[in-house]
Order: sequence, then C-alpha cells, then structure tokens
Amino acid sequence: MQPPDDTSSQNPLSSLGDWDDDVRNRYQEGDSDQSKGFRDYGDQVRDSVREFYRQNHIRQTVEFVRSAHEKYLPLRTRRMGIWQAMEYLNELVDDSDPDTELPQIIHAVQTAEAIRADGHPDWFVLTGLIHDMGKVLCLFDEPQWAVTGDTFPVGCRYSEAVVYHEFFQENPDWHDESYQTVNGIYEAGCGLDNVLMSWGHDEYLYNVVKEFVPREAQYIIRYHSFYAAHREGAYTHLMNDEDREMFHCVREFNPYDLYTKSNAAPDVEKLMPFYRDLVSRFFPDEIWW
Ligand SMILES: [Fe+2]
Ligand SMILES: [Fe+2]
Repeated sequence: MQPPDDTSSQNPLSSLGDWDDDVRNRYQEGDSDQSKGFRDYGDQVRDSVREFYRQNHIRQTVEFVRSAHEKYLPLRTRRMGIWQAMEYLNELVDDSDPDTELPQIIHAVQTAEAIRADGHPDWFVLTGLIHDMGKVLCLFDEPQWAVTGDTFPVGCRYSEAVVYHEFFQENPDWHDESYQTVNGIYEAGCGLDNVLMSWGHDEYLYNVVKEFVPREAQYIIRYHSFYAAHREGAYTHLMNDEDREMFHCVREFNPYDLYTKSNAAPDVEKLMPFYRDLVSRFFPDEIWW
C-alpha cells in the first residue's frame, strides 16, 4: 500500500504544541496532582492530532528515515550558536494554545528551571533547556510528521504500545516481511544505537549536540519522545545493558518535560545571564546544525 498523496495537509496540527498536549493528556491519569488542569481537547484538536499521527505512522518508513539521515547527516544545513537557534525556534509561536501563548523558549526555560530547582547537576539543567531545539527542523520546512510525535524503531515489528498503532497498517513497511518480525533488520539485544528510530527533533538534536554533552544528556535528548519504551516498557528486546542503565535518566527527565507547563511563566530576561553562562560552558559560539 502506498502512502497517501500530498494533497492532504502535511501540517494538520494548528501548532506543534498540540502534540505535546496530547502526550500530557495521555499520561496524566494516575500521575500526581502536578498534571491536573491541562486543557481538555475539543473535538477539532483531537481530530487534528489523530490526523497528525496517521501521517506520522504512514510516512515514517525505513526508506524515509534513511533519506532524512542522508539529508541532514553529517550536519551541514546551517552553522549557528545555541542562542541563535533558540531565537530561530522562537518563531514557532503557539498561537492556538490557550494554556500558554508563549513561544517554545518558555517551555525550554521552564523545564530547565524545574530541574535546577530540584538541585540536579548542570548538564541536566542544560538538557532541559535544549531538549526540544531539534524542532528547528520545522524552520527547514520539514512537515510536522517529520519533526515531532512519539518516536519508534523502524525496520522491525511495531509495538502495540505505540499510540495509534493501527495506523501502521497503512505504512508500506507493514507489508514487508523482513521488517515485521520481532527483531526485523536488527539482532536481539543489539543496542538502540544500532536501531533506526523514526526521524524527528529527538534524533536530529542528538546528532547536533552529541559531542558537547555527557552520555546521559545524549540519551535524554535522543529518546525523550520514545514513550513506548520509557513509559510503556516496550522494545527491551533491542536494548543492551547500557540502554537499560541510561533509560533511568530518560524516565527521570520525562516529568519535567510533561508537567512544567502549568507553572507560571519564568522571567526569561532575568534568567538569561545564568543560561548564557551555562550554555557557554558546554558549547562553542557556533556549531553545525
Ligand atoms: Fe520534545
Ligand atoms: Fe519538551
């Protein structure tokens, strides 16, 4: 089966934040009071999120992921500093989101501030600040389904723990037997570093920052949207010992990503000197994106 043609909108979400809200809504049940009070979806938002997942699950094929790697790696799209990228990302204002009319930078600083308030080390605070910066892919004209959404391995059987699993039936890889055994094109226990993940802001940013941040930060950035693994415990058959150890960090990070949105907006201007200093301790003035 072929993916649908491009006549349907490639960007069904009115803002990228709709996906993040969907994840919050999905996981707030049973979690602490922190999570209460996020918006209840209207049908229209729900439909657009559904359509977003449909496009994502149909179009993230092994072939697409390989082509995205070829397009962006080695990094050569743009040379800019972290702050330039942050300003660039700031153009992604969430007009439609009634919870926060503030741009992505607020989510970045809020996440970092919550990590800092809990007394975590600098690298962890930095990770909170930068974890979503791979969304600059949107500004390189990538469609939403190639930027955000839950991530999952391609080239092996899709776990039912991946949200909207049923949409995979329309992915051409669903009909390729070599991709639909439990391990697919991989060896059991081969380690996630050897596994192709669906392409988006996580995998992209991991490649941008990996030589500058510690291993734990690399894991958080690379797998923070891999909800099937870090929240549902799926895909352990592809993990090695290092993955299992490092996923503790991914799990520790997740609540900061999900539940800081309801907090009051931080005074970004006032916090800037601290974060400028923090960024300069890990990154040179300019890096490749
Ligand atoms: Fe993210
Ligand atoms: Fe985030």
